[in-house]
Amino acid sequence: MEGYRGRPWTRLPALLLACAAAAAVGECRVVHVGEAHRRSMLANGLGATPPMGWNSWNHFACDGNGEVVIRETADALVSTGLAAAGYKYVNLDDCWAEPERDAKGNLAANKKTFPHGIKALADYVHSKGLKLGIYSDAGYKTCAKAQPGSLGHEEQDAKTFASWGVDYLKYDNCNNGDTKPLQRYPDMSKALMQAGRPIFFNLCEWGDMHPARWGAAYGNSWRTTNDIEDTWNSMTSMADQNEVWAEYARPGGWNDPDMLEVGNGGMTNDEYIVHFSIWAISKAPLIIGCDVRHMSQDTYDILANKEVIAVNQGGLQIPLRLSVRAPALAFALPAG
Ligand code: GAL
Repeated sequence: MEGYRGRPWTRLPALLLACAAAAAVGECRVVHVGEAHRRSMLANGLGATPPMGWNSWNHFACDGNGEVVIRETADALVSTGLAAAGYKYVNLDDCWAEPERDAKGNLAANKKTFPHGIKALADYVHSKGLKLGIYSDAGYKTCAKAQPGSLGHEEQDAKTFASWGVDYLKYDNCNNGDTKPLQRYPDMSKALMQAGRPIFFNLCEWGDMHPARWGAAYGNSWRTTNDIEDTWNSMTSMADQNEVWAEYARPGGWNDPDMLEVGNGGMTNDEYIVHFSIWAISKAPLIIGCDVRHMSQDTYDILANKEVIAVNQGGLQIPLRLSVRAPALAFALPAG
């Protein structure tokens, strides 16, 4: 399969798809991203290729997302060879913090689940050659309502994350009192840029305000969809919604159709092969969402497939088109 660059006729199906989707909400216009824009990167210099790592949410949600799991996950990424295959980020999701800020107004790690705090966890993860990611929300409370959001505390929280040695921030979109994403996400972006540590910035805005159109100025990746579920229908729906924005992905800023479900048990092995392959050719972040401490050989073989990872990380830094599903499946499914 080839990319569309220099072959304008191959772009037509995707543009039509974009138009069809936009028409559903009463807007149909073809957007072109120029080469100069495509080449510019956020000044934090991160995300030259789509990020690879692991996140706690798809498997653990709020339960069991504690420091023991995170440390063991870091250990497992290294001992299985997944870290060597490129999976470097170990990312906490919602529910890592105390429900209230501390006396100084700082976010504080949940005393029960993260008794040693986030700095000690970051030190441990770094000692393994990995990077630590954290989660917050561009609102007053996070989506699980378990902890405060960062709205109005952007500078303070960005400094806290930097002081702990955090390398990645997933920034969610709940409980914001209808304030504007185009204010909230830039505010955190600026705060991160001034926090004194390069922090990969993932805008988890769910695609509501089409962040593919503006996200590259503020972040390194942006969700193009709502939450993935561990089913074939959900996974292919994420792929289709993400595809519309293919033209906007480039080094420094990537479309994010949500994290991987490979290994969580809701799809067949062949379906997981397709899932991983589609994410790879879409230049999507490869963020594992299963329990890598207890994964099957089949799961490992999918996630560690060097050729598929090379498609995601190497070569042309643009997504390949998925507009016609059949060839993508033929490419993804094993022979026989
Ligand atoms: C959702 C987000 C999920 C997860 C969850 C945590 O908004 O899309 O990926 O982070 O919140 O509450």
